[in-house]
Amino acid sequence: MAIIYNKKSQVFTLHTDKSTYQMKITEYGFLAHLYYGRRILDDELTVFAEGMGRGFFGNPYEAGTDRTFSQDALPQEFPVFGEGDYRSSCIQGINGDGSYDVDLRYQSHNIMKGKPRLEGLPSTYGDEDEVNTLEIVLIDSVSNLEVVLSYSVFEKYDVITRCAKAVNRSTNKLILDKMLSCCLDFPNKDQMDILTFYGRHAMERMPERSNIRHGKTVIGSVRGCSSHQHNPFVILCDSNTGEMNGDCYGLSFVYSGNFIVEAEKDQLNQIRVVMGIEPTAFSMVLENNESFQSPEVVLSYSYDGFSKLSDNYHRLYRTNLCRGKYKTIRRPILVNNWEATYFNFNEDKLFDIAKAAAEIGIEMLVIDDGWFGKRNDDMSSLGDWYVNSDKFNQGLSYLCKRVNEIGVKLGIWLEPEMISEDSELFRNHPDWCLKVPGRKGIRSRYQFVLDMSNKEIRDYLYDVISKILDSANIEYIKWDMNRHLTNVYSKVLPPERQGEVYHRYVLGLYELLERLVTNYPDVLFESCSGGGGRFDAGMLYYTPQIWCSDNTDSIDRITIQYGTTFGYPVSAISAHVSASPNHQTHRATSLNTRGIVAMSGAFGYELDISQMTQEEKDIMREQIRLYKKQYDLIALGTYYRLTNPIEQKSYAAWAFVSPDRKYAIVNYVLLEREANPTYVTLRFCGLDERKKYQVEGGGLYSGAALMYAGYRMPKLYSAYDCVQLNFVSIEKR
Ligand code: GLA
Repeated sequence: MAIIYNKKSQVFTLHTDKSTYQMKITEYGFLAHLYYGRRILDDELTVFAEGMGRGFFGNPYEAGTDRTFSQDALPQEFPVFGEGDYRSSCIQGINGDGSYDVDLRYQSHNIMKGKPRLEGLPSTYGDEDEVNTLEIVLIDSVSNLEVVLSYSVFEKYDVITRCAKAVNRSTNKLILDKMLSCCLDFPNKDQMDILTFYGRHAMERMPERSNIRHGKTVIGSVRGCSSHQHNPFVILCDSNTGEMNGDCYGLSFVYSGNFIVEAEKDQLNQIRVVMGIEPTAFSMVLENNESFQSPEVVLSYSYDGFSKLSDNYHRLYRTNLCRGKYKTIRRPILVNNWEATYFNFNEDKLFDIAKAAAEIGIEMLVIDDGWFGKRNDDMSSLGDWYVNSDKFNQGLSYLCKRVNEIGVKLGIWLEPEMISEDSELFRNHPDWCLKVPGRKGIRSRYQFVLDMSNKEIRDYLYDVISKILDSANIEYIKWDMNRHLTNVYSKVLPPERQGEVYHRYVLGLYELLERLVTNYPDVLFESCSGGGGRFDAGMLYYTPQIWCSDNTDSIDRITIQYGTTFGYPVSAISAHVSASPNHQTHRATSLNTRGIVAMSGAFGYELDISQMTQEEKDIMREQIRLYKKQYDLIALGTYYRLTNPIEQKSYAAWAFVSPDRKYAIVNYVLLEREANPTYVTLRFCGLDERKKYQVEGGGLYSGAALMYAGYRMPKLYSAYDCVQLNFVSIEKR
């Protein structure tokens, strides 16, 4: 069993294959954190919880004259506000008497096989033989607030998931003003870096590394969704950690709404990081026996650097977070008409694209924005999810039949959470959007946001979406969300529960998605939010792929996809070949380069194929053949970031290695042309030292030579040129 409890010392030890997590019930019943890191033997590191307080530290009353025991110095599992720990806390409440503090002490625990699902929330899952769970019950004996901390251990992925549930066991009303999911203290480290992923529209998930200093480094979102601006995934690491070496810890939030991450170095140089729902505009009212379940944080540890850490997330998320038919089978290669036509299309135009697509092996046509209501630009019709009869005079089912007949599947775009002022839905239900009474509200992209916490609205959306799905053979939905939340107020909740709306919005979204994925199991869902503005582990539970960015420029995409791979599998990263010059950056690149970059993800096209030359179509046909052939290696292989495009601006390279290390692909793109280019030698990763690899069209090298001496890359002469190298091992070990 991966979870051990030593009754005598009251120490809990959680082992994964390569990591150990340890905590202890201290003398006054506090749950102290002892250690998280590389696997140790049977040691109990209680030394890390020994009293370090002195001078002016606060001491629990029971400590009597012992001034060394202080919560302000103690590494903890779920620090509270108001009881003498002045660092970042996980929970703050308002008790029946109006007081703020919470005092949680150990009450009981339970160790079980498997992992219970979180009601109403996305979460990782696993069979009884792959995951075990420890639940620790803490109680505030004065307010009778109970908190249950859950730890699920996925041994083979080196992953431990955490979440917390608060239950009001009193007869008074309790209010939670803050309830995060996880705290990780590092009593054994006084220097750490934090890697965060910031961005904006068309430039998502840019890695940024900084030293954790005294005080707090805070990132998060108050936008109602996880956002382009910060991703709910961070890495803490040693200052010398790199791709292939060093200690690192990932924290990934399985949630799509507001979030916060605080990393702090305290006065004793200990490091703490907390993660959970952002407390701004958050307050949950708990009546007697009501509970609040926090979303899950997925922790992983690697001593082999970022590459191994990412691989842990990639494998777990592919198999134990994503669900549905397309979790295991190859996703269709699609063409999306957005950058091909924008709003300017009709049935015949789409059919022409589908016909040209079918000829080169594309398997699906996705009709993007503009097929519904009276939508010819972005100023109207969101909410009117019925076919635009000016564009489709014979309905969607007719086009669907036509494209199916030529062997092409059909998918559509939807933005269900939104409402345009100029829509039938708004005219009929002006009070369905999030809006504060008496205020006009903030428009963004001319639209308002529906109140997803309102069941009546969710039922409407379910009905209207299922009507479309039932009306034709629609096999894919792109679920978009193109603005952030403002004026968050729900007419269906009383004034004292308005602090629940941000969270209830997300729960409502999840409930609607759950109904749809359950009742339409053959439909492939892809999520999207102005590109990659809601690229998080929460959405991956419902949609196995996410549109990575509205920036389809292949050179910019190299960095965007690079950043995304730290926390998310390549199979989740939706990437398309678009026109050249690119519509966002006006940069011209070859079809070859665009293909190489887009094929490092869930692959598709986003241009007007009916206008392409025969030569271009031949290249695309070859790309499609290659992607199909390489699919397993790309989607299931181990991904390696061979260069960091933010630091190495001259060229970029990344690789895929098959699980049996027999095959490898290395993609290499020249980013800048130098006047007199020198040779580039790249050291590969993940190969078998003792196997010999045949480079397609080149020499024969051992894995050791390729990894330790490196491979001299072919010279490229023009900026943005690229080459793909294929390696096959020709002998058994
Ligand atoms: C968002 C998406 C795009 C496209 C447009 C349509 O920006 O990210 O891919 O669907 O909306 O309006």
